[in-house]
Amino acid sequence: MPGNAPRPLEGQVALVTGGSSGIGAGVAVALAAAGAAVGVNYASSPEGAAAVVDEIERTGGAAVALQTDVSREEQVEALFRGLLNRFGRLDILVANAGIQKDAAFADMTLDQWRTVLDINLTGQFLCAREAVRIFDRQGRDPGRSAATGKIICMSSVHEVIPWAGHVNYAASKGGIMLMMKSLAQEVASRGIRVNGIAPGAIQTDINRAAWETPEALQRLLALIPYGRIGLPEDVARAAVWLASDASDYVTGTTLFVDGGMTLYPGFRENG
Ligand code: BGC
Repeated sequence: MPGNAPRPLEGQVALVTGGSSGIGAGVAVALAAAGAAVGVNYASSPEGAAAVVDEIERTGGAAVALQTDVSREEQVEALFRGLLNRFGRLDILVANAGIQKDAAFADMTLDQWRTVLDINLTGQFLCAREAVRIFDRQGRDPGRSAATGKIICMSSVHEVIPWAGHVNYAASKGGIMLMMKSLAQEVASRGIRVNGIAPGAIQTDINRAAWETPEALQRLLALIPYGRIGLPEDVARAAVWLASDASDYVTGTTLFVDGGMTLYPGFRENG
């Protein structure tokens, strides 16, 4: 392991869905650096997942790549069985897998609507349900973690910011927000903490068009008071904190990691 970095997740096992690229890849690497063994779930990029597993193993960590379509119940059950077979337990779920299928509302097909809701929202439901079942079965192990288990739902600033042309995506993220809070309320007495992270504009493939050209980047930066685009590591550090005992009294909350995007910068000189 590099240096003497603190390892608050030593002895714990994490699963990151959509871990083969973007924010999920950054989160998987950071959880491993913090001491967790990591299941790197992917849907369609075995190469991406293998690269993340490689990176973790090169620095002395443990990881396994697991293929799943998170919107399919039987595949999600197999995913968690696969993780338990490899690492024997589960302490942390980062339900991160998500997609965009953008269209003007009047042109949006039912398929575009359903696919986004199925993967982004139903996928998180299916994964969180498996995680809760496992946490309940395992029970609390205070030597390992103060909580019985931790779930982190990857949301978006669009759980609160309406987004024209992306109604399916915004609806999925708004749904994640109240699923997260309702679930947190339901399982807190069993020692399970459930929180969300709402990233703003993070430089990944999903929003390449928004930062690829200088003109696009300039338009994007007008929405970010802090003056820079986010990086997967910005989100990853928040995930490590939410997964660790440092946040043990935190449940049912969304942590915005957005450089102030939700501060409505359009109002700085207006309104
Ligand atoms: C979306 C990105 C977008 C960002 C800020 C994210 O949830 O996936 O495409 O750049 O929100 O609008």
